[in-house]
Amino acid sequence: MFSPEDYASIFNARADAYHEAMGRWPDARDAEFTTLFKDMSVKPGMHVIDVPSGGGYLARYLPDDVSLHHLETSELFARLFEEEAHAGSKHPLTLCELENLPEQDNSTDLACSLAGLHHIEDKTPLFKELFRVLKPGGWARIADAHSESATAAFLDGWMGNHNSMGHHGWYLNEGTLSTLQEIGFTDVTAINEEYHWVFSSEHEAATYCKRLFGIDLANVNEVREGIREHLGFETNANGAIGLRWSLFYISARKP
Ligand SMILES: C[S@@+](CC[C@H](N)C(=O)[O-])C[C@H]1O[C@@H](n2cnc3c(N)ncnc32)[C@H](O)[C@@H]1O
Repeated sequence: MFSPEDYASIFNARADAYHEAMGRWPDARDAEFTTLFKDMSVKPGMHVIDVPSGGGYLARYLPDDVSLHHLETSELFARLFEEEAHAGSKHPLTLCELENLPEQDNSTDLACSLAGLHHIEDKTPLFKELFRVLKPGGWARIADAHSESATAAFLDGWMGNHNSMGHHGWYLNEGTLSTLQEIGFTDVTAINEEYHWVFSSEHEAATYCKRLFGIDLANVNEVREGIREHLGFETNANGAIGLRWSLFYISARKP
């Protein structure tokens, strides 16, 4: 069993399965990504960072003419990004540490962070870096599971119990908002957003989750049952299958 401190090495070990799932079902998490930009317009020419970016999944949700810099900590995600069509992309990926981002001070209009912070116990060094690199008036949009959510309970409960590496997260909550305010952010607001990951069948949803989360101690049917019991499926008007998911979305501005 890995200790929580080993999450960086876990992602070096299982980024390939995560990346494959993201490539096979690129639209499944559309609502999760687009909610990052809710009530804001991302304008041409803006400088945007995505940290940690995984294999570079945010670009397809942004206008082509923004300058997007993917910042990632795992060498395997970086290699997978370079091997694909992204190679030579005008939206590059740089390997870095979260407490030492490669951007200049006051250089960034929008700093995004999606689904990567529950692996990090002390988020203050990263939040200070986001504050440093943002332009005055720039925004941070940060999303991960809330500590009291069904998402967090599923990840640390059923999912961790069916993953030989286990799972323990340090999730977001109201304390995260205080941390951001202490660093100097203003206009700090948050909402727990509920939406679906969308698939054509429950079997497909379970296959995706098995790959995305590295669930090696359950077969696809068992994963489907675990999702049914702990998260739930819903069928939309078009017959698509929605896996119920939620994240806590934080918006904060550098004055
Ligand atoms: C669930 S992925 C999210 C990737 C992408 N933002 C997305 O939404 O698909 C988690 C990310 O956190 C990074 N990560 C995991 N543990 C970390 C740690 N302890 N320190 C720094 N980065 C970590 C991984 O490399 C990966 O990019």
